Amino acid sequence: MPDIAFINGHFLPWQEATISIDDRGFQFGDGVYEVIRTYKGQPFQLDAHLERLSRSLREIKLSAPYPFSVWTKWIQEGLEKADYLDAKIYIQITRGVAPRDHAFPSASHSTAVMTIRELHAVSAEHRRSGVTAQTYDDLRWGRCDIKSVNLLANVLARESARQAGVFEAILVREGMVTEGSVSNVMAVQHGVIVTAPEGPRILSGVTRSVVLSLARKAGIRVDERFIPVDALYAADEVFLTGTTVEILSIVQVDGRRIGSGCPGPVTKDLCTQWAAMLR
Ligand code: PDD
Repeated sequence: MPDIAFINGHFLPWQEATISIDDRGFQFGDGVYEVIRTYKGQPFQLDAHLERLSRSLREIKLSAPYPFSVWTKWIQEGLEKADYLDAKIYIQITRGVAPRDHAFPSASHSTAVMTIRELHAVSAEHRRSGVTAQTYDDLRWGRCDIKSVNLLANVLARESARQAGVFEAILVREGMVTEGSVSNVMAVQHGVIVTAPEGPRILSGVTRSVVLSLARKAGIRVDERFIPVDALYAADEVFLTGTTVEILSIVQVDGRRIGSGCPGPVTKDLCTQWAAMLR
């Protein structure tokens, strides 16, 4: 089954899918992106992802090259070509090709790229036992709510986690937990889920929003506020949410055991509800 590459309305063989060195995505990180996964071949929360893409574009003052209906058609076409049950769809839109100058070019067409690849899910062992994390300085800019292709601070955090042999880097700004390098972070304190509020300090995760509404429906209280690192260490449970991780228990942070050191009851309950929702 092939990985799928697409540029500006055309599906291309992977080797031929290339972008100009003058593309502003390459020159400046001047672009935004989305990551959507499928379950049983169907995109999950497609509208929410396209809404967020549209918002990211608006926030960087780049007009949307194609409407939702066109993306939906191309995604469907790409998924049929790829034929993966569980796929990862990346859409990246940049301010296009222009001679290098920081200010916006007077005339340029945005570059829209899509790739579809097989999604390799988190291992069953990681799901059963939970994973480890380290904290890392949140070095990012002041608009983390925009899903920008400019991911250098996330890259450095993730690489540090890999070198430390842990699963995720939990980002900390002025002593407070913001989110993970590729996920949102939630803690459970005395039965209440505490997670950073939406705003410029975090990416407003699509999974985060689905998980919080599952929690509220189940009568679990949610407190959207920043949690200090010490309170994270002392939490009863910690878990990540995100397109690639879904809901994933964290059982150790910076070598300190979280709760009992196993996935806790609230996390497990949410995982059960998540699985039921997908059935
Ligand atoms: N990342 N926070 C950050 C910094 C992220 O990069 C992501 C997702 C999330 C979770 O968002 P969502 O639930 O909408 O996937 C939170 C994707 C998967 C990525 O960059 O590959």
